[in-house]
Amino acid sequence: MQQQKIRTALVGCGGMSAAWLEAVGKMPEVEVVALVDIFEEAARKKAIDFHLPDAIIARDLASVFEQTEVDAVFNCTIPEAHYKVTMTALKHGCHVLSEKPLADSMEHAKEMLAAAQQARKIFSVIQNRRYEPQIRRVKHFLEQKTIGDITTVNSDFYIGAHFGGFRDHMEHVLLLDMAIHTFDAARLLIGADPVSVYCKEWNPRGSWYDHDASAIAIFEMADGTIYTYRGSWCAEGLPTTWECDWRVIGEKGTLTWDGGKKQLAQIVKETGSFISAYQDVEIPAYEATNISGHAGLIREFFECIQNGTQPETQASDNIKSLAMVFGAIESAETGNAAAISW
Ligand SMILES: NC(=O)c1ccc[n+]([C@@H]2O[C@H](COP(=O)([O-])OP(=O)(O)OC[C@H]3O[C@@H](n4cnc5c(N)ncnc54)[C@H](O)[C@@H]3O)[C@@H](O)[C@H]2O)c1
Repeated sequence: MQQQKIRTALVGCGGMSAAWLEAVGKMPEVEVVALVDIFEEAARKKAIDFHLPDAIIARDLASVFEQTEVDAVFNCTIPEAHYKVTMTALKHGCHVLSEKPLADSMEHAKEMLAAAQQARKIFSVIQNRRYEPQIRRVKHFLEQKTIGDITTVNSDFYIGAHFGGFRDHMEHVLLLDMAIHTFDAARLLIGADPVSVYCKEWNPRGSWYDHDASAIAIFEMADGTIYTYRGSWCAEGLPTTWECDWRVIGEKGTLTWDGGKKQLAQIVKETGSFISAYQDVEIPAYEATNISGHAGLIREFFECIQNGTQPETQASDNIKSLAMVFGAIESAETGNAAAISW
């Protein structure tokens, strides 16, 4: 017997939605039944580009539920719209996979989590960078404890990004729209929850953003690890990768990672002199089971719907990364260290 397709509505037909539609185009178990955007033209264009002539075109998600049955909703809207779209979807009994960040405030995030729990539906977030093969390789290496227990983690992010669009006018644009990826990656690598943060946020001279596009933050994690983040979306020249430039210090050695393929590690060979003698150690190749990018997370989401399991980036876990963002924002606004809770 042929299995019923998972009827899916995509909301927010902007830049990012193409990656989603491309991914589901290769998933025969999924049917895109509606394309929604406040600018109908954007939805229409996606229907043409992705050969979806039968998809309902709508300006708001609520009107789609009056016309057809929907099992799952993709929320690809801008961060300020995530709350409304996700709450509408959950209210109508749909599973939700949302673009990051989960929400535009912790209050909204908690409400969305409660709504998902009440509806007994999956609510998960695309936090695609934690699924990249290179970070999985680093994570695997750290788990082997070759450099010992982690004490300190530093990450640097410097990219001069001229987006145009909503980011130019968004408050806390770096922390909320980008650092969420890095904080989530830090949680993955360290394997501990965040406790507190001190953060300085500013808009550098000559910035093309309306609000703060640079930040430096110091986090304390539950296992005592100190994690620092330095970043800017307004830094011209010598860019880092989008994954950041990392240094992980353990009790017995150090790992550096450029966010790409360059991963180096050294451990102590001999102590006793002013500077210990070190030896390079190989970081073994690692075959990750997760598929990288949007396609991997989208596939996992549908598998979870079918198996009744929960995705790795389920909102109830992802909210901890969001709490790091809002802790950093609170600290930047008050000038004091902030406790992190969710
Ligand atoms: N995971 C990643 O690597 C990654 C990369 C880029 C963007 N994103 C995220 O994807 C989301 C969208 O970013 P984008 O670059 O595609 O933005 P975009 O501005 O290109 O597209 C957003 C679309 O949403 C529509 N929209 C806004 N409010 C809406 C509402 N209430 N209902 C229906 N449609 C609405 C807009 O009209 C627009 O077409 C953001 O949350 C962003 O942070 C994620």
